[in-house]
Amino acid sequence: MVKVALIGCGGWGKNLARVLHDLGALGLIVDPADQARNLASTYGTRHSDSFNDALLDPDIGALVLATPAETHFELASRAMDAGKDVYVEKPIALSTEEGRRLEKQAATRGRILMVGHLLQYHPVYRKLKGQIDDGALGKLRHITSNRLNLGMLRSEENVMWSFAPHDVSMVLGITGIAPARVTCIGSSFFQPGIADITTLHMEFPDGVTADVRSSWFNPEKEQKLIVVGDAAMAVFSDTVPWDEKLQIQRFEIDGSGVRPRAIGEKHQKVDVDFGEPLKLEMQHFLDCVADRQKPLTDAVEANGVLAVLQAAQSSLENGGVWTNV
Ligand SMILES: NC(=O)c1ccc[n+]([C@@H]2O[C@H](COP(=O)([O-])OP(=O)(O)OC[C@H]3O[C@@H](n4cnc5c(N)ncnc54)[C@H](O)[C@@H]3O)[C@@H](O)[C@H]2O)c1
Repeated sequence: MVKVALIGCGGWGKNLARVLHDLGALGLIVDPADQARNLASTYGTRHSDSFNDALLDPDIGALVLATPAETHFELASRAMDAGKDVYVEKPIALSTEEGRRLEKQAATRGRILMVGHLLQYHPVYRKLKGQIDDGALGKLRHITSNRLNLGMLRSEENVMWSFAPHDVSMVLGITGIAPARVTCIGSSFFQPGIADITTLHMEFPDGVTADVRSSWFNPEKEQKLIVVGDAAMAVFSDTVPWDEKLQIQRFEIDGSGVRPRAIGEKHQKVDVDFGEPLKLEMQHFLDCVADRQKPLTDAVEANGVLAVLQAAQSSLENGGVWTNV
């Protein structure tokens, strides 16, 4: 099996270290922070302060980057130049130009480049997507995805860049096409110029619409994807016990009265086999490296997400004006 160097072992990277260790793939941790040194010792793996050590090590075939977003482009590009396959945490880069350069570099150098759109590997999302594709909800009408919390603020990026890559990735996975245009509004009340709460609205060419709300100033944690079709609605809530995470409710419109009325049937829980999304995601990366397969969340998928985020950022900076994607 390929040995992987984990670059960046902070708040999120420590989870990747655990999973890579469990999968028998962790070969090196690179991060000057004390936590990284301690985790390397806990997992009995090598540690270095220097990124070059990972690039020059012939036993390391692939790099997993869990460093801050503004480093992704440079580190991913240097890793592919050194002949390594790369997994990079979301977002792939901070501009579509950089994202496309990485996509092209991976294609011309024959490297695997995968982006950490974790929820694409969540068994509940996969089940939901299968049901939508099989027509269980009828014709797709609207999607809402909320990622709200009271938690860690970032100063390098606003809450949309921090949270919404996951939601936009799920929305695009369901629609299968890019939105024609987006609008985004937000509020910033703690760090000037860095939005703490954003609402992104997307319009698709086939009339489907989607809303993504992101906040790190919400009293309750909410991670909820709601998909509305013309026959049924589905709710994927990731903050409830596993057997309640996916529910579907069929409904009918009664047009016989003075006003039309939507009548919902009882919610149906949908059974989904348990699997840890992060472990499934890392296993997929290792399989893609071993078999030279295209990852589900490759650079093309990630650049579709990035194009939406970049258009939304432009709208946010211009008072919520409609912006083409
Ligand atoms: N998939 C998810 O659900 C999820 C959740 C949280 C964070 N993330 C992503 O993970 C990435 C890291 O976020 P975080 O919250 O762990 O940040 P963090 O600030 O807690 O940790 C970043 C770590 O990277 C190290 N680092 C920085 N530059 C480095 C370099 N050049 N070489 C080696 N180490 C370096 C720092 O010392 C730090 O320990 C971000 O891209 C973020 O968007 C993903």
